Amino acid sequence: MANIIVIGTQWGDEGKGKIVDLLAEYADYVVRFQGGNNAGHTMVVNGEQFISHLVPSGILQGKTCFIGNGVVVDPEVLLGEIEYLKSKGITIGPDNLKISERAQVIMPYHKAIDHGREKMKGDKKIGTTGRGIGPCYEDKATRRGIRFVDLLDSESFSDKVRTILKEKNFYLTGFLSEQAIDPEELIRNYTRYAEQLAPYVENVSVSIHSGMRENKHVLFEGAQGTHLDIDHGTYPYVTSSNTVSGNAACGSGIGPMEITGVLGIVKAYTTRVGAGPFPTELFDDIGDAIQKKGAEFGATTGRRRRCGWLDTVILENAVRLNSISGMVITKLDVLGGLDELKICTAYEYKGTILNHFPANLDILAACKPVYETLPGWQEDISAIRKFADLPQKAKNYLKRIEELVRTPIDIISVGPGRNETIVLKNCFV
Ligand code: GDP
Ligand code: IMO
Ligand code: MG
Repeated sequence: MANIIVIGTQWGDEGKGKIVDLLAEYADYVVRFQGGNNAGHTMVVNGEQFISHLVPSGILQGKTCFIGNGVVVDPEVLLGEIEYLKSKGITIGPDNLKISERAQVIMPYHKAIDHGREKMKGDKKIGTTGRGIGPCYEDKATRRGIRFVDLLDSESFSDKVRTILKEKNFYLTGFLSEQAIDPEELIRNYTRYAEQLAPYVENVSVSIHSGMRENKHVLFEGAQGTHLDIDHGTYPYVTSSNTVSGNAACGSGIGPMEITGVLGIVKAYTTRVGAGPFPTELFDDIGDAIQKKGAEFGATTGRRRRCGWLDTVILENAVRLNSISGMVITKLDVLGGLDELKICTAYEYKGTILNHFPANLDILAACKPVYETLPGWQEDISAIRKFADLPQKAKNYLKRIEELVRTPIDIISVGPGRNETIVLKNCFV
């Protein structure tokens, strides 16, 4: 039995979708356990691109997919995504997609509050995806959230909506200068969504657990990245859930002892969308070249991603926080053609070397990366499928990452396609 978690080690968009799609071949179940449609996971199969925001990336391999209790679900977006996948010839329905009855529902007022707060913050904004993620988790924590089980009980759902909208509309109109939301229209729309999604809703914890008892292999698909974690990331420039591997158990309703391995996805350089500290960010032609060659635009919002050198301080942080057993290096092909590559090995703060990621953002902002420089390679490596065939300089770059992070590399990705991959170790076999 192998139950593997795939998580992002940086600030998201490391290529989790591609790797989950690749490994889903060996899994029976694929599970999302946190986040919502702030995620944008890209898969490319036979030249065709698929982007999923809520449906686990195992759907293309025909695996049973679960949306766990830790996910916040916008039902309108989910229904749209189901239609989008069907239109692309993917089999998807209540037989192979299951939604936890305990998952929280994103409501229109969550999106309006997200939008209104960001607008009010001006240049201090977090740069959220505007999908209502933070306000939905906030209601979960204050015990005013609406779960799928509540959505399906139409009478009590209507009562809950009418009650909560009194408060939400007061805040929206009186404080954020946003439009009020009409409870009756909301109830009408969400009742329609509830009817369509009811066949998908079940006790996901029980289903995954019974599968595990039958020796099914489970792949847990993280969203965002370790440094967007609400506790361990660059708070407050983070998302509103725990993105670290520990939450895979809590967010899907299984115990931590079931997990057999954790793969940390590492982009061969670093990117970030939205605001917040980024010590190795590049503001020069090299940063622009990486952004262009890597097509670094957000899969959810289309925003240009900020780009910078690989940072092993954050990778060591990710290894510790997630119990990463193996790394997957993605987008190695993008670095081809650069004369030199830099790797950040530590931070310097007022003359002192810091080896750990500081919690204080003022300290982090004043940190200067300490770099090691390696020669780059000029070859196009995207057609290479064996480690031995990589240019020596690319091998040296990978070996140095393994040494600095003290964790083995299991998989190397050299292109967006499912098969543009070099597998050194498959955690399922
Ligand atoms: P995720 O959010 O972690 O799933 O990552 P995204 O899908 O948001 O962003 C990763 C982007 O890089 C997508 O456009 C992928 O198609 C692409 N990608 C993934 N792996 C590779 C790779 O090895 N090389 C290249 N050139 N592109 C890749
Ligand atoms: P995937 O799963 C990259 C960022 C947003 C913003 C912050 C908070 O594709 O890696 P939120 O809407 O969550 O309240 O925004 O988090 N963010 C992501 N950045 N990839 C993601 O997901 C992200 N999901 C959220 O840009 O800075
Ligand atoms: Mg993404």
